[in-house]
Formats: sequence, C-alpha cells, structure tokens
Amino acid sequence: MPTWDPNQYLKFTDHRLRPALDLLAQIPLADPRSVYDLGCGPGNITRLLAERWPNARVVGIDSSADMLAKARMEAASVAFEQADIAHWSPPAPADLLFTNATLHWLDDHAALLPRLAAQLAPGGVLAIQMPDNRTSPSHLLMDDAAATGPWHTKLARLRPVYGAMQSPDAYYRMLAPVTRQLDIWETTYLHVLEGDNPVVEWTKGTALRPYLDALDDPERGAFLAVYATRIAAAYPKQPDGRTLLPFRRIFIVART
Ligand SMILES: C[S@@+](CC[C@H](N)C(=O)[O-])C[C@H]1O[C@@H](n2cnc3c(N)ncnc32)[C@H](O)[C@@H]1O
Repeated sequence: MPTWDPNQYLKFTDHRLRPALDLLAQIPLADPRSVYDLGCGPGNITRLLAERWPNARVVGIDSSADMLAKARMEAASVAFEQADIAHWSPPAPADLLFTNATLHWLDDHAALLPRLAAQLAPGGVLAIQMPDNRTSPSHLLMDDAAATGPWHTKLARLRPVYGAMQSPDAYYRMLAPVTRQLDIWETTYLHVLEGDNPVVEWTKGTALRPYLDALDDPERGAFLAVYATRIAAAYPKQPDGRTLLPFRRIFIVART
C-alpha cells in the first residue's frame, strides 16, 4: 500500500472534488441512517456527506493514519476509523457505501464489489467512482520511465496502477445479479491546470506514489526527472500558458 501525503493530494482539490459531486448528485437516497465513506482520504468529501444527510451517522474509513489525522481536523462531527477496505464490513447493514477515487487501489473487483453490495440494507446504495487512465500518457509514461533506468528491477515488482480496473460491462455483470437498480457511466474531464509541468504534481499525489515509495534519493529524484521530461513533452502548454489533462473516470450507482 503506498504512503499518502494529504497536502500533495489536496493541491488539486477543486478538480478532484468535481467527480465526487457528480457521483453524489446521482445517489437516490433522501434520509439514509448509516453512511460510510470508504477511502475517505483527507475528509473533505466525507464532510459533504454529513452536510447532505445531517440525520445520518457518517463514518469515514481509511487505511492511512496521515489521511485520517487530516480528516479528523476537517470534519469534527464525523467518526473516522482506520481499516483496510479489503477486509472491512459495517457492524450492521448500511444505507450508503460511498467510495470516491479509492477502489482502483484494491484488487479482485469481481469479489470485492459484490461483497460490498452484500453489506447494504434493503434499498441501500453502493456509490463508486474510480479513475481509469490505463491508456493515458500520464500513467503509461510511469512504466516507460520505470523501464528505462537503473531502478528498473525495483520498479518492475510494483502492482500496475490500474491493474484491477475492468470495463463498464464487466462491472455490470459483477453487480447486476446482486442489485435491483444499476447505473454505470463514464466521463472524461478536461482538467485545465496552472503552473509548471502540473501533470507531474497531479500524479505525485496519487498514482506515482508507489514508484516514489519504492526508491530512495538520489534514484527517486533521477526517476522523477525522466518522468517529468516525458510528461512535459506529452502535455505541452497551451497558447494561454495552461496545461490540459484529459482524465477518464467510471461511475457506478448500485441499489439493492
Ligand atoms: C485518492 S485518495 C481518495 C480520497 C477521497 N475519497 C477523495 O475522493 O478525495 C485514496 C484513499 O484511499 C485510501 N485507501 C487506499 N487503499 C485502501 C484500502 N485498502 N483500505 C482503506 N483505504 C484505502 C488511501 O489511504 C487514500 O486516502
């Protein structure tokens, strides 16, 4: 499991918030009593869940102590618990399991997603958003940079960043047998980023973390320099000085 740095992750708060809001807007629940935010991270979205459903008991679950420390400062009214989603179950059937930008870090979705759906109360909702950039330069160039330096053997052992991701129809087949309503869609956001080589700053907060964790300085810095050079060429600045990052995400709203 990679280490997480809440401050690096929060550098792109507005861009990262938008898909969470798009997911939240599709949840057909008026008054859920038990709401869990799985992989709650720094807690800013958990706080929005608590604000939308003030009568609910909202609990944020995350495996990272650093993220949970940040979350406890962000949303004082919410309970936060440290756990690995792969082995986690709610104490009683839940009305809402919400999980934004997290499940792509976990393996074996064919077992995991039906297992989570089975933890829902009747009429409960499993709401999922996951990035899927298997074919994007931002992520392909990580493996490219990993393969071309003395760090090659250390990085060859890493789990592929999007190794668990499946196609929308595969998620349909996983969840249709265990749910009554199923809504699945994909969106590609065009993020307009400011600053110098901002795509590197973006991935440093998420997908690049396992690569950086696996190396020590000065190798880490040298790897990052190779990756950054390739990213700058793949994501050139626009005439207005900004950089465009197309970013595909899959959404699932499943109701029992
Ligand atoms: C990209 S962040 C998303 C945070 C938040 N949901 C958001 O949308 O801003 C992914 C989070 O998932 C957590 N995470 C990854 N694997 C996990 C696991 N197996 N169990 C619990 N949390 C996990 C990480 O610690 C991290 O906080």
